[in-house]
Parts: sequence; C-alpha cells; structure tokens
Amino acid sequence: MKNIPNHVAIIMDGNGRWATKRGLNRSEGHKEGSKTLEKLAIHVLNSGVKYLSVYAFSTDNFKRTKEEVEYLMNLFILMFKSKFKKLDKENIKVIFSGRKEPLRKDVLDAMNEIVDKTRNNTKGILNICLNYGGQEEIVDASKKLIDEVSSGNLKIEDINKDMFYKYLYQDLPPIDLLIRTSGEYRVSNYMLYQMSYSEFYFTDVLFPDFDEKEFDKAIEEFNSRDRRFGKNK
Ligand code: FPP
Repeated sequence: MKNIPNHVAIIMDGNGRWATKRGLNRSEGHKEGSKTLEKLAIHVLNSGVKYLSVYAFSTDNFKRTKEEVEYLMNLFILMFKSKFKKLDKENIKVIFSGRKEPLRKDVLDAMNEIVDKTRNNTKGILNICLNYGGQEEIVDASKKLIDEVSSGNLKIEDINKDMFYKYLYQDLPPIDLLIRTSGEYRVSNYMLYQMSYSEFYFTDVLFPDFDEKEFDKAIEEFNSRDRRFGKNK
C-alpha cells in the first residue's frame, strides 16, 4: 500500500523561465502557475494528503521589479476572490502564513475573504505562504514566546521543540515531503522549522508543467525512501 505523506510543501519555481522559453512575458508564467496550483491542490488533497503548503511569495520577492510585484499581487486578488471558488466547492480550507506588513489592504482583504469562506471546510488544508520567510517566522515566534514569558503566562522551562509549533504563523505538523520544481537545489528560506526531517524531491519540471502525474511521481519516490528520523535501521 502507498504511504501518503501527511504534509507536503511545494516551492513553486520556474514560472518566469516557462514564459521566457515561449517568448512570453514573465507574468504569463505566473498566470499559468496559478492555474497549475488550483488543479494540483485539488489533486493533492484528494489523494489523502492533509496539509499542502505552497510558497507563493517570499519576503525577499519584494526586491523584484515593481511591475512583477504588482502583477503578482493583482493575480493573488483575482485568484482568492474568484478563481479559487473551485477549492471551496472541493471542501478545501485555505489559510495563510507570513507577515501582513507591507502587503496592500486589497490583498489582505482578498486573503481574509477566502479564509472566511473556507473556514469550515474539512477535506484538507491549503497553506499559502505569502510575504513569507522561514527565518522571519522563527524570529516572530520567538518574540511571541518572549512576550508570554515576560507577562508571566509561560515558564522558560516549559519551552520545547514540540510546543514551539504553536507560536509559528500556523500550527501545522512537520513537513514529510518537500518538492522544488525547476531544477534548483535550494530551500530559499522556506519553512525551516517544519522541514527538519522532510524528504526532498527536486525535479527539472517548471512549475506550470508540474501536473497531477508529476506529483504522483514524487509520491512514488517518497515511497522508496527509508525514513529513520535519526534512529538505526
Ligand atoms: C517562482 O517562479 C514563483 C513565484 C515567485 C510566484 C509563485 C506564484 C504562483 C505559482 C502564482 C499563483 C499563486 C497563487 C497563490 C494564486 P520564478 O518567477 O522565480 O521563476 P524563474 O525562476 O523561472 O524566474
């Protein structure tokens, strides 16, 4: 029987190259990537995975050109306000991880809208990491912990690696499988705390082409791995 990972994370890379290869503007790659994500999320969460985290926009992505940042923000609004209706129909709950600052109010409103709409859905959770950084998440969690200790609600000796998850942006289980598309072998400041024992799957396929079949290949590969979590064989 297939072993289905509980939490899968995807670094959706290669949208720009997908478009450039076709003589298109980079934004066309992002548009295509958003269609891929919609189909993929439905497939992944229907296959028994309970949590799917995706890297939509890093804190460092604000260093891209103004045009590309604007395009992506407007695409997020479009997806969250209308296109992702399909996800709601599929009973998928959408949540977000990341910092609010300096996201535009209309982007934050669109995020809140889809969170509210899908709040009671039970099929699985799509965690969209937007304005997200892994080191930032650990720093922000540490600040919350320090606040709790200073106000007397928490004792230093009660801090441990398991309860730390509750102070992250979302209280999610550890990542079992991390996928990165487009032939890059980096973690790029993604979910550093949650990936301590993740299996890594790297593929040359560019994200817009990462379809259901490609995901199933990643699951096959995951099933061939021997996960020991530091123990002997
Ligand atoms: C990385 O490819 C991709 C991004 C920075 C954006 C990811 C966004 C989407 C998949 C669009 C839709 C998302 C949602 C949540 C609606 P890249 O631009 O770095 O590609 P390159 O390395 O080929 O330039």
